[in-house]
Amino acid sequence: MNDSSELVILKLGGSVITDKSAADGVVRKAELLRIAREISGYRGKLIVVHGAGSFGHTYAKKYGLDRKFDPEGGRITHESVKKLSIAVVEALTHFGIRAVAVHPLGCTVCKNGRIESLYLDNLKLMLENGFVPVLHGDVVMDSELGGCVLSGDQILPYLAKALQASRLGLGSAAEGVLGKDGKAVLELTPSNFEEVRGYIGASEDTDVTGGMLGKVWELLNLCKTSCITSHIFNAGKADNVQRFLEGEAIGTRISPDKGN
Ligand code: IPE
Repeated sequence: MNDSSELVILKLGGSVITDKSAADGVVRKAELLRIAREISGYRGKLIVVHGAGSFGHTYAKKYGLDRKFDPEGGRITHESVKKLSIAVVEALTHFGIRAVAVHPLGCTVCKNGRIESLYLDNLKLMLENGFVPVLHGDVVMDSELGGCVLSGDQILPYLAKALQASRLGLGSAAEGVLGKDGKAVLELTPSNFEEVRGYIGASEDTDVTGGMLGKVWELLNLCKTSCITSHIFNAGKADNVQRFLEGEAIGTRISPDKGN
């Protein structure tokens, strides 16, 4: 597999690595191990960001963190996603990946729910020295709101821009962004977004961070302000993570309009 010095950022959606319908955090162990094995063949620089699934979303919803910050709810939600982070790091380590957890609560500040600063020096040194940083959706401090829920979907484009990633992949439980015929739209650009928008499913009820529409919005914004292309693909399907890491264009490709 690729051993370039270019950076790839991969998100593992919470609906792939956890049972999102569970009332409390449940890891899909077999899926997580399969994905970790697929990642282990990759030799380049890599950051993994994972979602919260039934770990964070359950508590974020219970404590209404999407409406108003509550310190006790925030602490409990953070502790919950930390447990998932331990499971992800363990699975990656099992396959020889030098994964280290970086909790966004400790290195990120938001303003009205958007990242204002995320400490990058540490991440850069980790990447230069052979670590695979593992970040995740989290509860973070917010200079206006006190605290907020930060989705991995927002961390992904922020890091891609700040660290000049070459590829960005969002491994979800769907084939990609589904169009009118129920099949993945192969190419999504700012100019065909309105056409596709009506078919994009609303977020599932335990998801406080916007579901598929939220992901598309983040990635479209990224390609409007940079030339970075991303892929939303089905990480629940065997070999897809490996195929993405090998450079294959799978799922929905989100890219700037041609000529931009
Ligand atoms: C959500 O993160 C964070 C919390 C609820 C604390 P994500 O938005 O990245 O999680 P998934 O991928 O939807 O599960």
